[in-house]
Amino acid sequence: MLSQHLQHELQQFETYLLTSIQNLTYPEHLKESVQYSLLAGGKRIRPLLSIAIAKAAKIPSSSVYPLAAAIEMIHTYSLIHDDLPAMDDDDLRRGKPTNHIVFDEATAILAGDALLTESFHQMTLLSVPATIIVDLIQSLSACAGGGGMVGGQILDIAAENKTVTLSELRNIHYLKTGKMIEIAVVGAAKVAQLSDEKIQQLQHYSEAVGVAFQIQDDILDVVGTTQQLGKPQGSDLTNGKSTYVSLLGLVGAKRALESEYERALQCLIDTKMEISELLELTRLICQRQG
Ligand code: IPE
Ligand code: IPE
Ligand code: MG
Ligand code: MG
Ligand code: MG
Repeated sequence: MLSQHLQHELQQFETYLLTSIQNLTYPEHLKESVQYSLLAGGKRIRPLLSIAIAKAAKIPSSSVYPLAAAIEMIHTYSLIHDDLPAMDDDDLRRGKPTNHIVFDEATAILAGDALLTESFHQMTLLSVPATIIVDLIQSLSACAGGGGMVGGQILDIAAENKTVTLSELRNIHYLKTGKMIEIAVVGAAKVAQLSDEKIQQLQHYSEAVGVAFQIQDDILDVVGTTQQLGKPQGSDLTNGKSTYVSLLGLVGAKRALESEYERALQCLIDTKMEISELLELTRLICQRQG
């Protein structure tokens, strides 16, 4: 559960996202498909992390909205494509039938393409000097592309029905999930024009929290329920995925999650910033109460 404060922050971001998407002049069928997935009610962890960085850096939350919207668009496209029959072949996402089930595969692929492209338009709307926007676009494309999330997705598929080492698996998790968390954190830090030292500390934080997030996702695939997750429980087992649970067992996976959590916490403390919102999100990601 999010605190009232972060819920309020999120509502304002949702309004921004809704307006951005409503204003698009797309063929109606494509727009419907894009809106269907983007507004289906994701947890919005990545935008929340960007907002929490804005808070820690004492800049207005709204200054990171275009970045946060861009990241949520890329994240949503990655989910639409991740669910396709050629990939994880799942039929439920965010509590609703997946995009390719409601529309069709071609529309789902194109909705993903449109979201990815739209994200770069969003980046041009940031109110920071052009040199910073260029730097941010470089970082975003590096995190989302073949050296980042997309690269992680192909390694994830290549690791199906195989035994990989723990360090190989951590790298897959870092790339496929950690990299988009990294850009949410580091990108917001760049919008706030924080020092290189702080940006580096926050990058280390984002790596730990990103890997922790995917370990928790692996654990929930085993112990969660389809209703609670809004996506099919047991998908990893069906697909023969290499996960922290398949490699280390449930107890080992929880231990690995704990150690990433401790690392993330230490990185946050090292920044010496006002970290209450970041702390709340870190606990939420690692499913800790209180
Ligand atoms: C799911 O991401 C895929 C992973 C990278 C683990 P989320 O758990 O953030 O999914 P939504 O956005 O809340 O639907
Ligand atoms: C997906 O990992 C990571 C992405 C980049 C989409 P998963 O395949 O484990 O995500 P879920 O469990 O389908 O949400
Ligand atoms: Mg997948
Ligand atoms: Mg999947
Ligand atoms: Mg998963």
